[in-house]
Amino acid sequence: MSKVFVSMGMSLDGCIEGPNASLENMGGDGWGDLHAWVFQQRVFRQRLKLGEGGDAGPDNRFLEEIFDRTGASIMGKRMFEAGERSWPEEPPFHAPVFVVTHEARAPWPREGGTTFHFVNDGIEDALRRAREVCRGKDVRISGGANLVLQYLNAGLVDELVLSVAPTFLAGKRLFDGIDPDAVGLEIIEVRASSKVVHLRYAVKKRR
Ligand SMILES: NC(=O)c1ccc[n+]([C@@H]2O[C@H](COP(=O)([O-])OP(=O)(O)OC[C@H]3O[C@@H](n4cnc5c(N)ncnc54)[C@H](OP(=O)(O)O)[C@@H]3O)[C@@H](O)[C@H]2O)c1
Repeated sequence: MSKVFVSMGMSLDGCIEGPNASLENMGGDGWGDLHAWVFQQRVFRQRLKLGEGGDAGPDNRFLEEIFDRTGASIMGKRMFEAGERSWPEEPPFHAPVFVVTHEARAPWPREGGTTFHFVNDGIEDALRRAREVCRGKDVRISGGANLVLQYLNAGLVDELVLSVAPTFLAGKRLFDGIDPDAVGLEIIEVRASSKVVHLRYAVKKRR
């Protein structure tokens, strides 16, 4: 049975985006510090066409596992808008991506097996459609905060994976608006390197 999981990078003060985020300023001030470890990893450099080389150690394996387990992704419109400007012609997903949005738009097929589908009927419909095409793999809720919170509060997430970077952002906090009565957590795994700490939680419904 495929799982629904969230995987995001987070600062130590719980932010997924720095202040002053915009289409030009991507994930806001300090965004580079939040994701510094990611850009050093071999699999990420390959998938984003950033060039050869890169670390091939435990953080790279962590990212490979995330890519390998993902059969379809779901994201919010703001995350998509930032990526639309920066992903290469062959986006890193190589699988269907469902963008939850109020905007009606035809599917956008890209090189390498990624097609962006624009879903106007809410998060449950996006998940239903992602499950249909994920080929038994897992469905990743990629972000941003708005979308992740909706899925968590609706009890639709099985696993929460946070890669916590040793930096403060004082920006947009992932869990502002979380329903603590609805979302329970159990620790599955903690992995640490000198650059980042990866936390995996099973998400349990509380009621
Ligand atoms: N740290 C990380 O790992 C990470 C990962 C991903 C993203 N990010 C960052 O997160 C930021 C974006 O996050 P965000 O929370 O601001 O936005 P978001 O979740 O990406 O997108 C929110 C938007 O999606 C659409 N939407 C959401 N739910 C909907 C629904 N139920 N029905 C219809 N439309 C819906 C709405 O846009 P419309 O009304 O315009 O359609 C809404 O304004 C970016 O800065 C990105 O860089 C960080």
